[in-house]
Amino acid sequence: GDPRLEAISAAIRVVPDFPKKGIMFQDITTLLLDHKAFKHTIDIFVERYKDMQISAVAGKPLFLQCFVIKVLHANDCLCIGVEARGFMFGPSIALAIGAKFVPLRKPGKLPGKVISESYELEYGHDRLEMHVDAVEPRERVIIIDDLVATGGTLSAAISLMESQGAEVVECACVIGLPEVKGQHKLEGKPLYVLVEPSGLDEF
Ligand code: PRP
Ligand code: MG
Repeated sequence: GDPRLEAISAAIRVVPDFPKKGIMFQDITTLLLDHKAFKHTIDIFVERYKDMQISAVAGKPLFLQCFVIKVLHANDCLCIGVEARGFMFGPSIALAIGAKFVPLRKPGKLPGKVISESYELEYGHDRLEMHVDAVEPRERVIIIDDLVATGGTLSAAISLMESQGAEVVECACVIGLPEVKGQHKLEGKPLYVLVEPSGLDEF
């Protein structure tokens, strides 16, 4: 495998029983403190997405299963980040691949016209909002977050994108918790994760 993944994995601090008993919290703030490991993280995503053949979606504007008509430039690809920890990775990737960055925010933070989507978390529930004019129909997007657990957050992000007719090419996370069923919730969208922590029987 890629030796950079070990450095990334080693830089993520695991904090037991935070924010609740039984949760092994995957703390990426320590990854951000480690310049080398942080750079590896961004580099791996950039290598994956920079030369991606970008195609537009045609046909039904809302659902993207039926497609591939026109090849666009790589910078027609968008990078979507989920508040808050997705904001720590998404913009760097967007800049490097020449994509715009669209923040998905927690409720009440965006000043323009928004659409919103509720979702369940491992602990509690929440809502994500997006400016309606942030994406155009048929734009290809990559959704970035630090971690996928149940997949509820990514699933809400996918719904927001698709409600605007955008195509979710892939969801990308630094950490994937393998014990939970996130992937089944992602409506068949590909999920790319860098590291899968072991020994998380609590989940
Ligand atoms: C965490 C994490 C992911 C999400 C993953 O975010 O950053 O976004 O949970 O869980 P899921 O796959 O079960 O949806 P959280 O909502 O705790 O907030 P934060 O990113 O603002 O810290
Ligand atoms: Mg989050």
